[in-house]
Amino acid sequence: MANGITDPAAPAPPGVLPRPAPRYSVVLQGQAALVTGANSGIGKAVALGLGASGADIVINFVNNPEAAEEVAHQVEAGGKRAITIKADVSKEDDVKAMFAKAIGHFGTLHICINNAGLQRDAPLLDMTLEQWNTVINVNLTGQFLCAREAVREFTRRGIDREISAAAGKIVFMSSVHQAIPWAGHVNYAASKGGVMQLMRSVAQEVAPLAIRANAVAPGAIRTPINRPAWQTAEAYRSLMTLVPYERIGEPEDIAQAVAWLASDASDYVTGATLFVDGGMTLYPGFATGG
Ligand code: BGC
Repeated sequence: MANGITDPAAPAPPGVLPRPAPRYSVVLQGQAALVTGANSGIGKAVALGLGASGADIVINFVNNPEAAEEVAHQVEAGGKRAITIKADVSKEDDVKAMFAKAIGHFGTLHICINNAGLQRDAPLLDMTLEQWNTVINVNLTGQFLCAREAVREFTRRGIDREISAAAGKIVFMSSVHQAIPWAGHVNYAASKGGVMQLMRSVAQEVAPLAIRANAVAPGAIRTPINRPAWQTAEAYRSLMTLVPYERIGEPEDIAQAVAWLASDASDYVTGATLFVDGGMTLYPGFATGG
């Protein structure tokens, strides 16, 4: 087994991740970052990672306020400021109120991470319009609404070269399923395909305003959204047939990519999708066939 993991489905011992420990360069000082869906999974790791990179953090959540508070405490324990804001990203009024509150609190925002997302899986024949709409509304419309508010604030403020070369940075959370079709998940795959062109079109439109927009496309990451895919040894083995690098991704794998895209280290990168997937998009079935 790659990476020395003998029982990959077993929870990692406390403090031990089956990946190199995350290291964040402190390059986001003086910046405020809003992370949607930041109370669990990838969003939580991103909030903590951007905090470790020196940013103050707006932790958006829609349910489980206690979990959001816990993320805020962890950010504060690392010496940065944090605020939690409840908002449903699929609702225009909620998103506007969230940005107003965040900007009121920190003075401005420099980084927007459109992370909030969900799945409502069903075979096509059984998929209800509600399941379709819920996924499109949160995963796609939510990213549009937040990107629009972020661009409004970035353009209002303009560039402050002491802080960043860009007026603002947006990272959209996509998925390998912006590229890989996914039977039984047509709403989710359609939402992520939409995120790809939303991000690219936004990037094209706002580049002259010195705003960068990019996406991260995670593969199978160990979070609550896909627990059935990794929680038993059998499921994990089956998942690994899709992952050439032979380990599941951890939320910190995504957080480190996001931190780079939010920083001036990636200042010439816009309109890009960074796949962080252990090779899932490399057509692993062709390793022995074709
Ligand atoms: C989905 C997960 C899935 C992964 C790889 C993600 O975007 O949310 O449920 O395990 O893609 O298929």
